[in-house]
Amino acid sequence: MLRKLIIAGNWKMNGSRQMAEALIGDVLAHYKVDAKTQVLLFPPAVYLAQTAQLLEGSAVHFGAQTVSEHTSGAYTGEISADMLQDMGCQSVLVGHSERRSLYKESNEDVAAKFMAAKQQGLVPVLCVGESLEQREQKITLDVVLGQIAAIIEENGVNVLENAVIAYEPVWAIGTGLTALPEQAQQVHQAIRQYVADLNEEIAKNLPILYGGSVKPDNAKQLFAMADIDGGLIGGASLKSADFLAIIEQAQQVEK
Ligand code: 13P
Repeated sequence: MLRKLIIAGNWKMNGSRQMAEALIGDVLAHYKVDAKTQVLLFPPAVYLAQTAQLLEGSAVHFGAQTVSEHTSGAYTGEISADMLQDMGCQSVLVGHSERRSLYKESNEDVAAKFMAAKQQGLVPVLCVGESLEQREQKITLDVVLGQIAAIIEENGVNVLENAVIAYEPVWAIGTGLTALPEQAQQVHQAIRQYVADLNEEIAKNLPILYGGSVKPDNAKQLFAMADIDGGLIGGASLKSADFLAIIEQAQQVEK
């Protein structure tokens, strides 16, 4: 086994205290911790304290869905990496496509958030992905590798040590359309090759997750691909039965 499979649940703006308690309770009760998998939860920020409490002492990690690029000060509504770290977060999502499209986060903004997370010792999960239009224009790799280049051109490839990349084709998010395993693998392989050309060791250890309509019935085929190291799961992470079934699928993958 080269890399652990990471099964990450991005709750987006969904849930309640009650739902968090039930869902996390189910995950803790039924996830059979093993050396092959790492489970990671991204609840809304207001539930991080509760999540930290519920997960205390467990093998399940958690983090926030975004982070400020600033360290502190007059940024009403924002949350710093320092605060996330203080709450016990191990990780944070940066550059999710919904942040990029709805909140106009540019590659430069995402790079700054990525670095803010790194500086606090959080594991950034850098989300990248092309729109349907970009795929049709056959510029998928330009877009995806460009999103990664924006981070490493400025800061060097070493920043991808202790980081995660999540490839989430925008056309597959919340649509029920999933990239075919081979289609996703192609992009994952290109990402790993791009990083390997700069540093082979970092590329070898870099977890690259797939996201976009991952469900219990397609997870195993996706996770079985050589360069797919798990999933970033939206809708199906809100139902404990589905999320646990996806974790189980990951545990059955042999590679
Ligand atoms: P869905 O699994 O609902 O398609 O969402 C994917 C996603 O955006 C996870 O970050």
